[in-house]
Amino acid sequence: MHRALSALALLAATLPVLALPVFAQTATLTIDASHPTANVSPTLYGIMSEETNHAWDSGLYAELINSRVFQDNRRHRLPSSWILIEHGSSEAAIAVDPAIGPSAALPASLKLDVTSADAHSTAGFFNTGYWGIGVRPSTTYRGSFYAKSDTPTLGAVTIRLVQNQTGAVAATTTVPALDAAWKQYTFTLKTGATIPASANYRIEFLVAHPGSAWFTLLSLFPPTWHDQLNGFRPDLMDKLAALHPKFLRFPGGNYLEGQHLNEHFDWKQTIGPLVDRPGHQVPRMYRSTDGMGLLEMLTWCEDLHMEPLLAVFSGYALDRTHINPGSDLEPYVQDALDEIEYVIGSTSTKWGAERARDGHPAPFRLHYVEIGNEEYHDPSGTYDARFAQFYKAIKQDHPQLQIVAAAPVTSTRPDIIDDNDHEAHRHFYRTADQFFNDVHRYDTYDRTGPKILVGEWATREGTPTTNFGAALGDAAWMTGLERNSDIVVMASYAPLFVNVSPFAMQWEGDLIGFDALTSYGSPSYHAQVMFSTHLGDQILGSTLDAANPRLFESVTSDAKTGRLYVKLVNASSSPQPVDIKIQGAAHIRPAMTITTLSGATTKATNSITEPKRIVTIVTHTTTAAATFRHIVPAYSIQVLDMDRTR
Ligand code: AHR
Repeated sequence: MHRALSALALLAATLPVLALPVFAQTATLTIDASHPTANVSPTLYGIMSEETNHAWDSGLYAELINSRVFQDNRRHRLPSSWILIEHGSSEAAIAVDPAIGPSAALPASLKLDVTSADAHSTAGFFNTGYWGIGVRPSTTYRGSFYAKSDTPTLGAVTIRLVQNQTGAVAATTTVPALDAAWKQYTFTLKTGATIPASANYRIEFLVAHPGSAWFTLLSLFPPTWHDQLNGFRPDLMDKLAALHPKFLRFPGGNYLEGQHLNEHFDWKQTIGPLVDRPGHQVPRMYRSTDGMGLLEMLTWCEDLHMEPLLAVFSGYALDRTHINPGSDLEPYVQDALDEIEYVIGSTSTKWGAERARDGHPAPFRLHYVEIGNEEYHDPSGTYDARFAQFYKAIKQDHPQLQIVAAAPVTSTRPDIIDDNDHEAHRHFYRTADQFFNDVHRYDTYDRTGPKILVGEWATREGTPTTNFGAALGDAAWMTGLERNSDIVVMASYAPLFVNVSPFAMQWEGDLIGFDALTSYGSPSYHAQVMFSTHLGDQILGSTLDAANPRLFESVTSDAKTGRLYVKLVNASSSPQPVDIKIQGAAHIRPAMTITTLSGATTKATNSITEPKRIVTIVTHTTTAAATFRHIVPAYSIQVLDMDRTR
């Protein structure tokens, strides 16, 4: 061996290994700041939500009692969340009584038969909650139930929050003796300052005397977002608020359609007092309470300043059955007209008056109505005619509404079309690679065609929530949406929520995970927050000259503040130098804020136990200029926030 070479080899072998980053070839991003190419759609980033993954019942809808009514099982079996208690020598039984209930909507109840009980040997039942009841110290829980008893000597009902592992009682209260007729009872449970916060509590209902009683609509709410009655979980609402969603597409999705025609989202069954809401079967194997009904969805929109994108049932179900257009479809068209009247009608209209009775006299805001969901699955080919029938009737009464087609139609021109992945024949549920390869999808889209809604989209990598690789796919895709938001006027990520408890999930790859107590955002969630909070109102022309096929960009600006938002996505494993050339700006201030989301690997992720492994980091530099070099770290998403005011 050559002597010099062998000495070098020896030196190399004895030196510590230094992993020097291999930089990619420098790319050039040229930005034309002199005149925007178009306006950013003011409704670009929204969210889509429906009842799947126990998203609402067990999640956003803050009810803590699981299966609070007893309509859930056609064979009248007791839901597994209700368990008999026989303390000491007490003897009792519980069962569903299918024939005794407080209303036409709730004809069944839970019957408690106590044959033996006393003050030391109480009997009753407990509810497990949805994978446990989340309880915190120094907190007031509001509860209620409907009940009646045929035993005047049954005595008071004691209600307790009990920790499952320790048996420790976190709060207790009593409700006085039950009437012989159905009545609603209310109670509060206040926890002490020293009890541990845990997702592992249960709620017990106990009596100390023999006798019988019937119960239903047993309910317990923690403090809700802005203290609303029948309201939402604050941690989940806060996460949504941080997304600044401009619209909400609801109530589905498959949840709108139902597995069978008679299981579609029948909005009239979801309004009014809870005792008049029967609930219904959702396509993903469980039953919804419909506590999250149409009014709650609308107030949710109002609370977060989101435009409702109301999807109305079109006469097509997931089992691929449909209602024929024409007279058969007419009742469904009327139902949609009634629904719209409920949302925006004055209180002098039938359904506007109903909304006022339900507690919301003021009409809601409504500009967008979608007819159905994923109608391209319908083998009957009737969507075109069904859409036309809905379109004509809605436009006749409400010409101001924008009507969205859920599949391509030819006989009527929709205002907006909910685009889909034509090859996969469904909404845009893809791998990161598929999104990388389709980032330019809308660059050449016909600008004279209907506007585009991307009604459901997500990079589905990672479970239960998506991982950092998915965030890269999402961010790349969003650069394409932003650059084309003159035509892509709305895009809603889906699904939004997943309960991460065992067997709660039906759909893998979701944005926000939660259990009975806490929640977290996936890396994709943080990417969404980055994009939606640095958007501005103008699209600036930009060209990227890069050898790296995994480098993506979009540039927007805010006309009022003069801020410039450069988004860069480096989905490769090497740091990427980029020469940024801003043409046509009179001035660029050196101070620049950089928001970065990065991961060591594409598999890196957040979870309920490690909720903050991947979060955005904000840094400040003074390196911005009309021309400057910036290095985008490997596997990272960045927003460079610059100021071009003097
Ligand atoms: O988001 C999950 C489901 O995917 C939606 O309900 C449906 O529209 C789509 O197929």
